[in-house]
Amino acid sequence: MCGIVGYIGPREATQFLLEGLHRLEYRGYDSAGIAVTSTDNIKVRKKVGRVSELAGLLDEQPVAGHTGIGHTRWATHGAPSDTNSHPHTGGNGEIVLVHNGVIENYSSLRKQLQGLGYVFTTDTDTEAVAHLVAHHLEEQLKLEDELTEELCLRAVKLTLLKLKGTYGLAVLFRDIPDLIIAARNGSPLVLGVGKGEYFIASDASPLIGYTDQVVYLSDHEIAVLTPGKLDLMHRDTGSMAPSIHTLAQVSADIDLGDYEHYMLKEIYEQPQTMENALRGRLDDDEATAKLGGLNLSPQELRRVDRIVLTACGTSWHAGLVGEYLIEEFARIPVEVEYASELRYRNPPMSDRTMIFAITQSGETADTLAAMRECKRKGLPTLAICNVVGSSIAREAHGGVYLHAGPEIGVASTKAFTSQVTVLSLLALFFGRMRHLSYGAGQRFIRNLQEMPEKIHRALECHEAVKAVAERYASMNNFLYLGRHYNFPVALEGALKLKEISYIHAEGYPAAEMKHGPIALVDQQTPSVFIVPRSGIYSKVLSNLEEVKARGGPVIAIACEGDEKVAQLADDVIYIPEVEEYLQPLVCAIPLQLLSYHIALLRGCNVDRPRNLAKSVTVE
Ligand code: F6R
Repeated sequence: MCGIVGYIGPREATQFLLEGLHRLEYRGYDSAGIAVTSTDNIKVRKKVGRVSELAGLLDEQPVAGHTGIGHTRWATHGAPSDTNSHPHTGGNGEIVLVHNGVIENYSSLRKQLQGLGYVFTTDTDTEAVAHLVAHHLEEQLKLEDELTEELCLRAVKLTLLKLKGTYGLAVLFRDIPDLIIAARNGSPLVLGVGKGEYFIASDASPLIGYTDQVVYLSDHEIAVLTPGKLDLMHRDTGSMAPSIHTLAQVSADIDLGDYEHYMLKEIYEQPQTMENALRGRLDDDEATAKLGGLNLSPQELRRVDRIVLTACGTSWHAGLVGEYLIEEFARIPVEVEYASELRYRNPPMSDRTMIFAITQSGETADTLAAMRECKRKGLPTLAICNVVGSSIAREAHGGVYLHAGPEIGVASTKAFTSQVTVLSLLALFFGRMRHLSYGAGQRFIRNLQEMPEKIHRALECHEAVKAVAERYASMNNFLYLGRHYNFPVALEGALKLKEISYIHAEGYPAAEMKHGPIALVDQQTPSVFIVPRSGIYSKVLSNLEEVKARGGPVIAIACEGDEKVAQLADDVIYIPEVEEYLQPLVCAIPLQLLSYHIALLRGCNVDRPRNLAKSVTVE
């Protein structure tokens, strides 16, 4: 939510800033802006709309300079407008800054600053921060006769002490043009270390192709960047040595290649991402999974008598599949909690409860807060996470990475299947620590090994899905129905359709629909039934017939060669047959493609749906 970039070094700053904002645009696309310092002032260019609009403005009104900051916005305080766009100016232009996060006490700060004569021109919370830095700078200047880097740092530190809420900040100073001060609390910031140059970004994607050396800022850390020098410090403990990591990502990870949209590219990456999630984690000899990153001893792992999975959105749906898997194979009770609820609840948890935060980005504010709450209570808190170096990955006691590569389309696709894959590994792992037999473990492994190929085959339904999308794209209400392992898939299919095509869709357990939602069924409300062969196949077929009997159109997702379903449903999309507990992995594919094509047919922006942002870093 909101993306920040910064540059200091020998290059023209604008080139990196613009490219970086393009790469961070998935975090918010209500407006974009940059600020670049020159010898006597800071030039700001900002515009409501996409980064491409800002690029157009910069063509007309270019700015030159070697130090700059930029921002792409997902509006929280104040509607999207040119004025409310970042960067924001403090005082009489002495400082300019960009901010990601929410300042909770901004209205009291605003009143105090207005009382001191500061004039506010925007509706944002950020402007209060900008004026506060300017105010402290002025106060400090009364004590010293010369403006120095040290003085600017003091002004920023005094400001941070007064802020309540979350921030990733990058600040420019008009009268010291070769200086950026960056600070973090709750909103991610990564520093790129180049040769004689430094980069700032909300995540590592803007840095790819510029440098592979990165420093992840932690909460309450402050970075002072000058040409050729990086000083890092903690708010409370002072100066510290930067810990430099090497990025594994390469340009191909973030290029669109031959695809029209990131979402489609990411759907098609799933055979590969599933292989990545499994690589090195299947132990044939012991018939179990190898999950070294859990960082717990076998004794500690054996003590676990309850697992809580916490997440938001699609990751929460993956958690529901995980619940079914772990309870079936490991016989450990599992609860799946919305992180936004868990963070304020206080459910009883013993020291034998294990927490897993499931998150693609590793930055979702609610998931991070829920995880911290559990950590505070001394529980083993682990992460199932995609983004290496993200806040959740770093703060967890341990965990399992997805290795799915950057997910850029706002609608999550490959992360879902990778999360389910990792959760199935956990089910196998805990199962084999308890009562799951050697033979059952080996069968589980063989089935998992076949999955990348099965996903590959599931993608062959693409043309059939396209045809179905054309028939139903004009409808305004959809039901998604599935049972057992495919109930979470129904929820996920409905979410995909809602978020990218703005169609009302509800996911339900297929049998539960008789208790209310069946009243919605009419000729204009298609029901998507997920009905692959399983132990409850005939039960789901009965539910399907109940909908048909009431005149509702039915689209069925069924196993290859299923003639029975073909006779009942209006349209059938076939997927390869797999074991029941792995069906979510193949059944998700046609649903992802269906939402993609319906959204395209309705003229929606598939990769940048309205009102959404990829990484929800505000509460
Ligand atoms: C839906 C979607 C969101 C995310 C949710 C959690 O397609 O992308 O529902 O799943 O915001 O995000 P992460 O997994 O990054 O914590």
